[in-house]
Amino acid sequence: MLLQIPDLLSADEVRQARQLLEGAPWADGRDSAGPQAATVKNNQQLPHDAPAARAIRSLVLAGVERNPLFLTAALPKKIFTPRINRYGGDTPFYGAHVDNAIRFTADGERVRTDVSCTVFLSDPDEYDGGELQVQDTYGPRGVKLPAGHAVLYPGTSIHQVTPVTRGHRLACFFWIESMVSSDEQRRLLFELDMSLMRLREGHGETDEAVSLTGTYHNLLRMWADT
Ligand code: NI
Repeated sequence: MLLQIPDLLSADEVRQARQLLEGAPWADGRDSAGPQAATVKNNQQLPHDAPAARAIRSLVLAGVERNPLFLTAALPKKIFTPRINRYGGDTPFYGAHVDNAIRFTADGERVRTDVSCTVFLSDPDEYDGGELQVQDTYGPRGVKLPAGHAVLYPGTSIHQVTPVTRGHRLACFFWIESMVSSDEQRRLLFELDMSLMRLREGHGETDEAVSLTGTYHNLLRMWADT
């Protein structure tokens, strides 16, 4: 499932993030890529311990915590340390790859990469190219969103960032280990939850809404690994 999350960050938070990135210590992006991905990766990212990386990470994680759409779609169990990256100039792209299934945090904790999230920190008119392309059964789907918006996509998918041919593309990205590892099951739960919300908006708290809410929670109980 590919899902847009509008306004994960407010306009003010995007401004703060952009200020933090002025003069930031960009490093080669390949140091976090697996062997296959490293052969096609050509971008820059901030070291985890850079002050700008720490501050932007806090903004993004706070944005995630208060966003009901993100939480119901991803059903997060763990979130891998978000990274900040930059595409443009001599380091403009990241070719087709699949992310490593398991990542290790600085503390050695394992995180399974069920869901990927990109939070855009540049507006689309600031750069040409730089589209996130995710392969799904219908072929490649392109995503390029306003600053502050995010996209969720399955960690299982082949994806790439096409070359930036003008300007720079700034983004924050991270992986989520979901309580429900299966993309298919997560999607069913998400669709049921969204339908329930609309049912309540249209008809109030009916017996049917209560019954279906029970079904939602019983499916979650059956599928979730907490
Ligand atoms: Ni990737």
